[in-house]
Amino acid sequence: MNVPMVDLRAQYLRIQAEIDAATARVVASTHFIGGEECRLFEQEFAAFCGAGHAVGVANGTDALTIALRAYGVGPGDEVVTVANTFIATGEAILLNGARPVFVDVDEASFTMDPGALEGAITPRTKLILPVHLYGHPANMEAILAVAAHHRLPVLEDAAQAHAAEVSGRRAGSLGHAACFSFYPGKNLGAYGDAGAITTNDAEFAARVRQIANHGGGTTKYDNVVVGTNSRLDALQAAVLRAKLPHLERWTAERLERALAYTRLLEGTAGLVLPREQAWGRSAWHLYTLRATNREGLQAHLTARGIATAVHYPRPIHLQPAMAAAGGKTGDLPVSERLSREVIQIPLYPELPLESLERIAQEIRAFCGAR
Ligand SMILES: Cc1ncc(COP(=O)(O)O)c(C=O)c1O
Repeated sequence: MNVPMVDLRAQYLRIQAEIDAATARVVASTHFIGGEECRLFEQEFAAFCGAGHAVGVANGTDALTIALRAYGVGPGDEVVTVANTFIATGEAILLNGARPVFVDVDEASFTMDPGALEGAITPRTKLILPVHLYGHPANMEAILAVAAHHRLPVLEDAAQAHAAEVSGRRAGSLGHAACFSFYPGKNLGAYGDAGAITTNDAEFAARVRQIANHGGGTTKYDNVVVGTNSRLDALQAAVLRAKLPHLERWTAERLERALAYTRLLEGTAGLVLPREQAWGRSAWHLYTLRATNREGLQAHLTARGIATAVHYPRPIHLQPAMAAAGGKTGDLPVSERLSREVIQIPLYPELPLESLERIAQEIRAFCGAR
């Protein structure tokens, strides 16, 4: 039996009629860019997040890059973020000519350590950019308190956290604005690249929309600022609209599987299991174990047809692409240790419970438990 990390075909088969109808509708309309599907998806996704506005863009990396630009982040500015994330978080800062200042993470949640924030803020700090990693929200209340003290906006990198919550409020409505990716394997995934920015600030939403569509003004050939082409296309919007009504159920199915793993793996030697922290509800994008012998465990599971992943083998302050930020080994001990220990095992709404039980059994067998 082979178990993949995600099974997008199984998801498609569950909602095939809805997806097929949505894509056929767009093809028949020949309205491929912008238009009704995009407008309605933006409305529906904003409502889902509890945000006043959503602006669809081409992907999550653009969402971050454009949002930072809309804040006026540029050369000479610093953005405080984490290194325990996908490279795009750092890229978006450098692409705007600013400098990422990396703080360490809290090892229980894998997210920004609010205690490390205060020491990282300087007069050049323009913004704080926490990441809701693996679906677990960052400790937003603590982060927002530090941000308010310094009058800094907080931009959420919510690329992995559709439907995650803090105190009953969803990711996308926790900071001043938030960036989402709808990469196919995300909890809400398109059939290609797609992304969005959510915010309650109408003026900010308008600025983002303008940058994402060639700096447009009120008419088509009225270009007010230098923008870019980062539009959400209608086929992706239609697929996302078909999937959005299922997201709550899929998130519940992820939670059910995460709890099952935890029940079956509790007490296994050589493993630390992921836990929801008091401040938030995880969207369980990934089930992340910490393993004393990660490479051995990975080889054991691979040999038995069970897929695994390592997000991320190198914290981004140590990536050559981030050299301009001046990071070096030893700067972020928790992030660096986690990058040597973390391993993800299959977790998706359609994962059969028998497969999950077998995966847990193989992990326990490897760790010497019975
Ligand atoms: C935390 C994080 N930020 C940003 C991105 C970038 O999103 P995209 O791949 O849609 O550009 C991703 C996606 O992989 C991500 O996981």
